[in-house]
Amino acid sequence: MTFKTTLLASTLAIAPIAAMAADLTIGFSQIGSESGWRAAETTVTKQEAEKRGIDLKFADAQQKQENQIKAIRSFIAQGVDAILVAPVVATGWDEVLEEAKDADIPVVLLDRTVDADKSLYLTAVTSDLVHEGRVAGEWLVSEMGDQDCRIVELQGTTGSSPAIDRKKGFEEGIAGHDNLQIVRSQTGDFTRAQGKVVMESFLKAEGGENICALYAHNDDMAVGAIQAIKEAGLKPGEDIKIVAIDAVPDAHKAIAEGEMNATIELTPNMAGPALDALEAYLASGTEPEKWIQTESKLFTSEDDNQAIYDMKKDLGY
Ligand code: AHR
Repeated sequence: MTFKTTLLASTLAIAPIAAMAADLTIGFSQIGSESGWRAAETTVTKQEAEKRGIDLKFADAQQKQENQIKAIRSFIAQGVDAILVAPVVATGWDEVLEEAKDADIPVVLLDRTVDADKSLYLTAVTSDLVHEGRVAGEWLVSEMGDQDCRIVELQGTTGSSPAIDRKKGFEEGIAGHDNLQIVRSQTGDFTRAQGKVVMESFLKAEGGENICALYAHNDDMAVGAIQAIKEAGLKPGEDIKIVAIDAVPDAHKAIAEGEMNATIELTPNMAGPALDALEAYLASGTEPEKWIQTESKLFTSEDDNQAIYDMKKDLGY
């Protein structure tokens, strides 16, 4: 997978390339490869490090917090200059973050937040996860008007900040609209396979004709659910409206084909702003803001999703 940096920068709102930081060694504890978005984030992070001359030590935690903690301890033992971590869940980080702090190694959080004292990390590069859920909820409100709508929700990984915040945001988005009701809500662990399995169980429990909309915390689960809806003899995007988050190419394709209705973009380039902040901090002690917020853009059938799909595929997404 090769991302063409300049094009990607203009289309996915990426920060400009920073000065080369020769001789920096940075550890990156990645969650795993649960989604298309995650795979893209891994690719972009490796490319951002390479173009800056950074030696990136990559550790795939295979969805397990214990593996992330081990990786962070190993980075500390190796004396890296800094650590990037995409934390699989929100809690349980205090001890290992203290250890990094005691070793004077700055930690930057990528794409998810943690429930820990802010002094334990340098900055967090994330979207506004609550806002993403709210945008999804508000989109459904405008789509349904006064019609009654029974909604099913596919949550992300239990205990992860996007699962918690995207749920909260969506509930805020539909609040006060009593015609919209979440009737089932269960985790699909951010994967396509689980999205399909859980959607099958929703369809069985509720009866497909009684479900009016699906809100999925990421596109991969929505794509899995689309398959389940089709196998149940229903038309995704028509019989069941679908809104999700990430804006991966397959979501644009599904919208272009009328099988999905909306998605909210999460840039896979968290590493650009993170490495800019780290390089400035390591070079001159410049403290970044505690939260570097990335953009969240809504895409619907009013956008040229086929063109966006082609463009993102061309970029190697
Ligand atoms: O933390 C970001 C989320 O993690 C993405 O929305 C999802 O696809 C991924 O697994």
